[in-house]
Amino acid sequence: MIKFADVIVDLQAGDTGKGKVAHALSKMGEYTHVVRYNGGGNAGHTIYHNGEKFVTHFIPCGVIHGIRSIIGPGCIVDPFKLESEIQELEKGGFDVRNNLFIDKRVHIVLPHYIDEDIKDTMIGTTKTGNGPTYRNKYNRTGIRAEDYLPESMIVDIYNEFHGTNEVSILFEGAQGFELDIDWGDYPYVTSSHCTVGSAILNGVPPQSIRNVFGIAKAYRTYVGSKQFEPKSEVFDEIREIGGEYGATTGRKRQVNWIDMDDLIKASNINGVHTMIINKIDVLEKLGQFNSIVGGSVVSHQSRNEMEKFIQDMIYKNCPTVREITFSVSPYDI
Ligand code: IMO
Ligand code: MG
Repeated sequence: MIKFADVIVDLQAGDTGKGKVAHALSKMGEYTHVVRYNGGGNAGHTIYHNGEKFVTHFIPCGVIHGIRSIIGPGCIVDPFKLESEIQELEKGGFDVRNNLFIDKRVHIVLPHYIDEDIKDTMIGTTKTGNGPTYRNKYNRTGIRAEDYLPESMIVDIYNEFHGTNEVSILFEGAQGFELDIDWGDYPYVTSSHCTVGSAILNGVPPQSIRNVFGIAKAYRTYVGSKQFEPKSEVFDEIREIGGEYGATTGRKRQVNWIDMDDLIKASNINGVHTMIINKIDVLEKLGQFNSIVGGSVVSHQSRNEMEKFIQDMIYKNCPTVREITFSVSPYDI
């Protein structure tokens, strides 16, 4: 029986600080389950826990707090990389094996899918086998967790959510709105759905959604083949101050100012209740506060002025938003 489900969704092109928010929310003790609802090893969620840094790819951050954590049916899993991630977290002292379970419907990334993905040059993928695995899933030629992984790791998410116990779920998303297979800038997108709709595809009815946490960054980043960063040294500076290098691939993230029209669209399509805008301190250190509205750069005098500008625009244009919070590094919560 579901009491409620909260959803974390990225409103930009990934890397907005979802891991940090998921970690902070899990810590509150409200959730019986933390569930990843899309993607696979392409995700890289950076978590600071008691001063130590952990990067997770497949594993929901609930395991760090000893919460039952499930890789949901919308996800894919590479068993070899999953095993090394489990061992990495075990070294950090976390009881992963008693808390991590995989829905039987999850699709398996096979080694030759990765070989195929490595050949990609057009999109600039993470080379984790994401595209070929989802392609074969939809072609109905894929291999699922129930036929590949040990029984002890497998659950049926229906039984988890719809049994006699009351459950409260935190859905942790991967990637972001601008990378969504339908809503993103196709073909520079990932192969899964990255909106709140994707969370619902993982076994809960829409009525169970209590709060949608929409996560953005005070500036934008994108990793991949398309030209995204305008020519200006200021973006090199932001990259250095913000440490904008991929958590999965180590690649340089391209940088640009926050785009208000895109943020409004992402917020409205996801029905965001609580918006969290991370890394505003990076702009403070830079000493420049810019946004993009209608394709033109708008300059703000101070952090306060920029925050107020964003809040006014979002509250005016996004009827579901009830709260907007600006958050700073460091990420240790
Ligand atoms: P998190 O969860 C940022 C990007 C890749 C590439 C495109 C397609 O950490 O926010 P894929 O390997 O998915 O086929 O690559 O999507 N990409 C991400 N960018 N953060 C991510 O995840 C990403 N996952 C995929 O760089 O442009
Ligand atoms: Mg990331």
